[in-house]
Amino acid sequence: PQELTGLVLEHLREIPDFPEPGVLFRDITPLLADGPAFSRLVEGLADHYRGRVDAVAGLESRGFILAAPLAVALGTGMLTVRKGGKLPGPVIGADYALEYGTARMELRPESVEPGSRVLVIDDVLATGGTAAASISLLEQAGARVDDVCMLLELAALGGRAQLAGRRLASVVVF
Ligand code: PRP
Ligand code: HPA
Repeated sequence: PQELTGLVLEHLREIPDFPEPGVLFRDITPLLADGPAFSRLVEGLADHYRGRVDAVAGLESRGFILAAPLAVALGTGMLTVRKGGKLPGPVIGADYALEYGTARMELRPESVEPGSRVLVIDDVLATGGTAAASISLLEQAGARVDDVCMLLELAALGGRAQLAGRRLASVVVF
């Protein structure tokens, strides 16, 4: 996905002090709003992963925006790893630590084909807590998660270390 780096960088917006003072927020909505750019992104990701994965798992919420068109382009199904309390049962869940408090991701294990190769995709890798919890659920349900794709990686927050042993492809690394 390195050939997509320039495309994504050209369509990002940086907002200082959002959602709190001191945070520089990278907003992907200009990229999504640009039809040709969004399409080139999805096609480029599909070219990279075609034939290598059996399903695409999106992490709620912004991961869904990427996972759905990518799954369609690849001709695979899409799995939704959701925030706690959103999915009807039976679900499995994983709690993880935030800077303040905890968060929870959930998955319907029945949606996973045992032994299938699942690509995990999200918009941002920050501390890696969301991705690590989501991967543990997918693997608990029988998936093989060798590939993780992130539109943006905020390297200073160390998320890559949470994904040891997987191929992490980040389109833009800050
Ligand atoms: C953001 C982002 C990732 C996660 C990354 O989601 O979309 O899913 O945080 O953070 P981490 O690597 O520190 O876990 P957010 O919780 O803001 O939810 P949203 O997608 O619903 O906006
Ligand atoms: N942009 C978007 N989402 C995020 C960011 C960011 O900079 N940091 C954590 N989640």
